[in-house]
Amino acid sequence: MTLIAGNWKMFKGPVEAGTFCRALREADLPDDVDVVVCPPFVSLAESVQALAGTEIGVFAQNCHWENEGAFTGEVSAAMLQELGVYGTLVGHSERRQYFGETDETVGKRVRAALDAGLHVIACVGETEAEREAGETDDVLRRQLSVLEPDDNLVVAYEPVWAIGTGKTATPEIARAAHETIKAVLDVPVLYGGSVKPDNAAELMAHHAIDGALVGGASLDVDSFAAICRASRS
Ligand code: 13P
Repeated sequence: MTLIAGNWKMFKGPVEAGTFCRALREADLPDDVDVVVCPPFVSLAESVQALAGTEIGVFAQNCHWENEGAFTGEVSAAMLQELGVYGTLVGHSERRQYFGETDETVGKRVRAALDAGLHVIACVGETEAEREAGETDDVLRRQLSVLEPDDNLVVAYEPVWAIGTGKTATPEIARAAHETIKAVLDVPVLYGGSVKPDNAAELMAHHAIDGALVGGASLDVDSFAAICRASRS
C-alpha cells in the first residue's frame, strides 16, 4: 500500500484546515492509497472532526516523550490521542535545524509515541554539505540508530537540500537512499522533498519508495489529490 502524507508545516489555522478537510472528503482519491494530513497542533481537532468517518488519517507534526509535566510548548501522545489523532511526524529536518532536535530526542519521541499507540512517521535525511562530502549513508545510519522496527513505524527520507527548493532527488538518488534505509530498518520508507503532481508517478514507480511526505504541494486540495492519484500502485 502506498502512503501519501501532507505536512502542512506552519500553515492553516483551524478555519482554513476545516475548509481544506471538507474539500478533501469530496476529492477524487484512489482507494489503494493511504492518505494522511499533518496540520499544526491548533488545527488538529477541527481536522479530526472534518474527516470523521473517512479513511483519511490526521497526524500531528511532533509529540513529547513524557505524558505530562513542566515542558512548556510541548504536547504529549496521550493529549493527541484524546483528540482522535492517529499518528505523528517526528524528527523533521526543520525541527533538527531550527529547534535543537537531536537523534537522541527523536528516539525518545518516537518510542513514546509508538508505546502510546500512535503511528509514527520518523524523518531522516542528509544536508547538501553532507551529501557532497560523501557522508549520506553514514548520516542516515546514525539517524536510524535510535529507531527500532515497529508495525506502526514509517520512515520518511527527506534530503534537506530537496525540501522547499524545487530540487527533487532523482528517482535514482531516492532509490539508493531508500535501499540504505531498508537495509538498516525493515519498515516502509516515504520520499519527501519537492514532490509535485508531475513528478510523483516517476518517484513512486520504484518498489523501494512506499509513498511520499509532501510539503508545499499538499497545501492545495487539487494538487494534493493529484499527487495521491499519480502515486497509485
Ligand atoms: P516540500 O514538499 O515543500 O519540499 O517539503 C517537503 C517536506 O519537508 C515534507 O515534510
